[in-house]
Amino acid sequence: MVTHPLKYFFNSFRFIPLRNYTKTFKHKDMTDIFDKLRDKKSALGQYRSVAHGYISFPKLEGPIGPMMTFRGKEVLTWSINSYLGLANHPEVRKADADAAKEWGLAYPMGARMMSGQTKYHEQLEQELADFVCKEKAYLLNYGYQGMVSIIQSLVDRNDVIVYDSESHACILDGCQLHFGKRFVFEHNNMESLKKQLEHAKKVAEKTNGGILVITEGVFGMAGDLGKLDEIVALKKDYSFRLLIDDAHGFGTMGEKGAGTGEHFKVQDGIDVYFSTFAKSMALIGAFVAAEKKIIDYLQYVMRSQVFAKSLPMPMVIGALKRLDMLRSDPSHKANLWKVVNALQSGLTKMGLDIGETNSSVTPVYIKGPAELAGNMLIEIREFHKIFCSVVVYPVVPKDVVMFRLIPTAVHNLEHVERTIAAFKDLKDKLEAGYFNKPIEEFIAKYNVKIEDF
Ligand SMILES: Cc1ncc(COP(=O)(O)O)c(C=O)c1O
Repeated sequence: MVTHPLKYFFNSFRFIPLRNYTKTFKHKDMTDIFDKLRDKKSALGQYRSVAHGYISFPKLEGPIGPMMTFRGKEVLTWSINSYLGLANHPEVRKADADAAKEWGLAYPMGARMMSGQTKYHEQLEQELADFVCKEKAYLLNYGYQGMVSIIQSLVDRNDVIVYDSESHACILDGCQLHFGKRFVFEHNNMESLKKQLEHAKKVAEKTNGGILVITEGVFGMAGDLGKLDEIVALKKDYSFRLLIDDAHGFGTMGEKGAGTGEHFKVQDGIDVYFSTFAKSMALIGAFVAAEKKIIDYLQYVMRSQVFAKSLPMPMVIGALKRLDMLRSDPSHKANLWKVVNALQSGLTKMGLDIGETNSSVTPVYIKGPAELAGNMLIEIREFHKIFCSVVVYPVVPKDVVMFRLIPTAVHNLEHVERTIAAFKDLKDKLEAGYFNKPIEEFIAKYNVKIEDF
């Protein structure tokens, strides 16, 4: 088992009391599930006692925007996915408040199929479908659950799924529900995709099934784009349907902001288009769009929708407002890209490595031992007062620490300058050996507190 570098560094600085739970289970040949879980180490939860409230579950306070408050101090924040800056836009806030006042948070009650249907849900679906150039769209309560259901509903046991190895958890989990064969291709590697399509074809020919290829428009960690143009081109040689998760592309990519399909001019080649409202739309909810007959089918079978309450009206009215702003005011996307371009070119000019990003997601890769990630994170947060996330091995190679910056339309060029200078300082300090100290020194210097958990 790999020892997580943050654990390696954090775990020596405070004593972690082990709770002494009384074993409650009476039957000696069986296990009480709770006894098993109380001290179980989950993949991320195992670090909670050394990370909670600082690295995991940090509380960012104040109005959503570039300047927020973290542990009582103002920080320049690059961690908010409201790409277009709509989360705290006065018109959006007013629309949300008016809708909540008029409708409350309950209406409509019940699942769409039973008693949760409204003309506003249908209107939003029609507007979304028109915007992404598909015949019909259907709303989903959450992106994650929605995607799981889409995948489950699109394929049966005779069909084969081929998906990108760096797909979001919602795709991986949706694939797990598939009773048939699935093949994974190396991230964005077209040769690997072709190889897997060959395997898939052999299976599908035997089972008399079809092939579903799944990937993303923008990969949210590293910011690289799914090679949608090349994948769509493969339809000439292989017969498959293509499902795209465009969570990070919707609103940010393409001339109209209609997403990565629009960017590559292959929207027609995407058979099923999906996006969440959790990023550019700064809301909860999601949608799936495709030809009418496919959506007609999906809306009667997607279990996360059929067996769940309809999206409340403020979400629907709020989404209509956001979609209207996204479509009618190009300045949000223009501001976003002004910030993205300044940030990415400034970082590169300073000699910093931003990898393969072609989207607004901006990773900064700093070569250095992952064990020093905690020290660097504390320095950037406490000394530079910049809040962003840090990613270490196994997501990136062992000798690299990745900081992930999410620019938005409401950042400005001063924020950009400050951030570039901070990362340059971080890199220089790393090279000068400044971080080669026990983390306790950084924790003491900046009075960092991990919350009891
Ligand atoms: C690529 C991708 N797909 C799906 C989701 C899930 O969307 P939601 O937050 O609406 O569940 C996310 C994260 O929000 C995401 O980044």
